[in-house]
Amino acid sequence: MCGIIGITAMPHSLPRGVASLIVKALLRLEYRGYDSAGVAGIVGNAIVVRKARGKIEEVSRRLGFKEIRSYCMIGHTRWATHGIPSDNNAHPHTDCRNWFAVVHNGILENHAELRRFLEEKGHVFRSDTDTEVLPHLVEDFFLKSEDVMEAFKKAIDAVRGSYAFAMISVHEPDRIFYAKNKNPLVIGLGNGFNAVASDIAALIELTRRIIVLRDGWHGYISPREIKLYNGRGEPVDWRKYVITVEWSIEDASKSGYPHYMLKEIMEQPVALHNTLAGIKKDKAIDKAVDILLDAEKIYVTAAGTSYHAGLYYALLTSILSGTLVHPFIASEYELYTKTISEGDAVIAVSQSGETMDTLNAVREAKKRGARVIAVSNIIESSIPRESNVTIYTRAGPEIGVAATKTFTSQALALYWLSVHHALATGKITRAEASNLLREAEKTPGLTRKAIEKTKPIAERLAEKISGARSIYVLSRGIGVPVAMEGALKVKEIGYIHAEAYPAGESKHGPIALVEEEFPVVFIVPNDPRLVDLLKGNIEEMKSRGALTIGVLSTNTCSECKLDIRIETPTANKLLVPFTHTPFMQLLSYYIAVNKGYDPDKPRNLAKTVTVE
Ligand code: M6R
Repeated sequence: MCGIIGITAMPHSLPRGVASLIVKALLRLEYRGYDSAGVAGIVGNAIVVRKARGKIEEVSRRLGFKEIRSYCMIGHTRWATHGIPSDNNAHPHTDCRNWFAVVHNGILENHAELRRFLEEKGHVFRSDTDTEVLPHLVEDFFLKSEDVMEAFKKAIDAVRGSYAFAMISVHEPDRIFYAKNKNPLVIGLGNGFNAVASDIAALIELTRRIIVLRDGWHGYISPREIKLYNGRGEPVDWRKYVITVEWSIEDASKSGYPHYMLKEIMEQPVALHNTLAGIKKDKAIDKAVDILLDAEKIYVTAAGTSYHAGLYYALLTSILSGTLVHPFIASEYELYTKTISEGDAVIAVSQSGETMDTLNAVREAKKRGARVIAVSNIIESSIPRESNVTIYTRAGPEIGVAATKTFTSQALALYWLSVHHALATGKITRAEASNLLREAEKTPGLTRKAIEKTKPIAERLAEKISGARSIYVLSRGIGVPVAMEGALKVKEIGYIHAEAYPAGESKHGPIALVEEEFPVVFIVPNDPRLVDLLKGNIEEMKSRGALTIGVLSTNTCSECKLDIRIETPTANKLLVPFTHTPFMQLLSYYIAVNKGYDPDKPRNLAKTVTVE
């Protein structure tokens, strides 16, 4: 998805202006996925715009982004929605007189009618984007009022859809005007400068003092001033909303690793440790358990990897509490929320807290009277803000598009919730709960061992199977969500078709595809009953010529017909996400590297999906 940065600094506070900072921030936004990049800055009495299709470093070098000597600049990484990826469609966009330059994330639904209206009035458009209507609208309103804030407000009132806007103007040369509706936007507070960005990670090198904007909020920043209004146009005391983020620069950089994805896989033990420390400290788990105890029905909803963490939670809760949790994919919310009624509980899992599908499910569930528990990695993001209580994971910023450390952190937070819920319902004793929680304390160590044991094998196996056209990842019971997560990683990062399903399903169709050397990975939980059942499924695949790969703890299933054994640390049978996931993450990572793809920026994907 697109990224926004804007910085306005006191003149001469930096010898060469803010351009280098803008480029650095754009590079921090790269992970969101983009096809073009651009900047605009106030230089003297004019706006200088430079933009093109391509990678930030190359475009910036070619067009000289850093040579723009400006103290008030905006920048953008574009991920095409309206209009193909091209130089003209890249942001920023300007009006006819070059008085205003705008960058935008989101989609303007009524852009076609606004464009027609503006063209009839003589405005000349230079792109195919929905965004370009905004600078022309501001220009139009400004010609009447000669007040930039008023014209900007009128323009945002005229557009319909989702947006995060940042705009500069020759008429207010040290101000950046901003507005937010449904797309994330934050303000960063500095000494002698202020900034706006679509993402906290973009600001991490500049400041940790952040205001997370809410829908309808708009205003402007200058180096020494912040003006903030709510959707009704009333002033908001922004001081009440300043938070300090704990992330460090190392958190948001590669720290010597070749890719963020690898760094984030390796960071899992720390992420789990911090998540544990966090959930033990705050009261969110207790509040969430109260909501669950009162609930008639419990649902869990999410997208992608977060859905797999949600499914793990659902299975765990049926094992520990005998309670049925209804899992549903967030984009299907219209169907599933129909069955939600007053007093039900919905757990919404989202690392970014901004995924539109999950946010829609939350909104609909709340409309129907449900209480919502969010599980998120991003403080003050939309889903937590709209939920009754939030359990925060503390995985630190995840820059790679693939969710890795946030998955295991979510699984841990949800495990903790499930155990406390089971205890509160009386389905497990205090001693059993203590035992299960002690097991959870071992997850950082287990994950570290799992990474150490499986990394070299994942690297070697990736070479062997990189050429495969298709892979099955099979498991049973509590291992199924882990298999699904493994298959998603192989697909999105390794670009190999991968399918996961409960192993017992093979004989109902999928086995028809199996031929000589077809790779089938078995996620074997440390549970004798499941091992026994999986033994048969392994045999079934082996006898059709499959290349059988088992991920299992040492000394498990020595009689299984496995061509390759990937040994993971021995642990409680419920802890599969922590013992078995690292191997699949590493395998996908090395498949991508082996094939020459960038695992941090898989094609067609964005980190945070804020469209339906
Ligand atoms: O931010 P969220 O957890 O809500 O994101 C959900 C999915 O978009 C995300 O997990 C996606 O599937 C990733 N590509 C997984 O690696």
